[in-house]
Amino acid sequence: MPAQWLIGNWKMNGSMDSNAALLTEIRQVSGSAKMAVAVPHPYLSQARDALSGSEVQVSAQNLSAFEKGAYTGEVSALMLCEFGVKLALVGHSERRHLFGESDEVVAAKTIAALNARLTPVVCVGETLTEREAGNAKEVVLRQLNAVIDGIGAERLSRCILAYEPVWAIGTGKTASPEQAQEVHGWLREIAVQSGAAGVSILYGGSVKANNAAEMFAQPDVNGGLIGGASLDANEFIAIYQALC
Ligand code: G3P
Repeated sequence: MPAQWLIGNWKMNGSMDSNAALLTEIRQVSGSAKMAVAVPHPYLSQARDALSGSEVQVSAQNLSAFEKGAYTGEVSALMLCEFGVKLALVGHSERRHLFGESDEVVAAKTIAALNARLTPVVCVGETLTEREAGNAKEVVLRQLNAVIDGIGAERLSRCILAYEPVWAIGTGKTASPEQAQEVHGWLREIAVQSGAAGVSILYGGSVKANNAAEMFAQPDVNGGLIGGASLDANEFIAIYQALC
């Protein structure tokens, strides 16, 4: 049975004061599902300290594909480990579409995360244009297979997968549970073929407290990757409770 996860992706949001209030609230949650918050790099030590002793883990939102060296502005996997980070988002659509990260770069970042014993949260998802052209399956499987080719099928079970239709991110246009389950089913099929049948596959894209339970009831949806709603403690905790 895949582990149930709820991961909050704060994106480039937060402040020391607002983070303190949010972290104080969410550290108190308890339940059967796992929880992590993916915070901007400057807030990693605050998150580590605020969540110390709780069940909530700290994730990075990105990492360098390189181990160390002359890469100005980059943050390595080993540096993240020094801040108590246990997971790292890789291939988020905003990294792919706004910052030009290719499938090959995403694979290299996944390798870097695994080599440092971080859990990569591998994000895949199609644009509205790709979906309307009937190419959603081709796109998400291309993105996933590029990572599997890079890390080797035997390491896929050490990852978490996240399906985030680009057209549902931040738009309020959540994919229907049926649409999500269809894509998660495609991803699960590849995972089974790779010997990783139990990999957790999360859905992300306008998940709110009022639509979470129906989404999480889908057989191959093992939790959520939450953006905007993760910045509101009550909303994020309500989504978590829908998962447990
Ligand atoms: O990584 C999660 C994010 O892309 C989803 O954003 O605001 O639609 O929940 P949002």
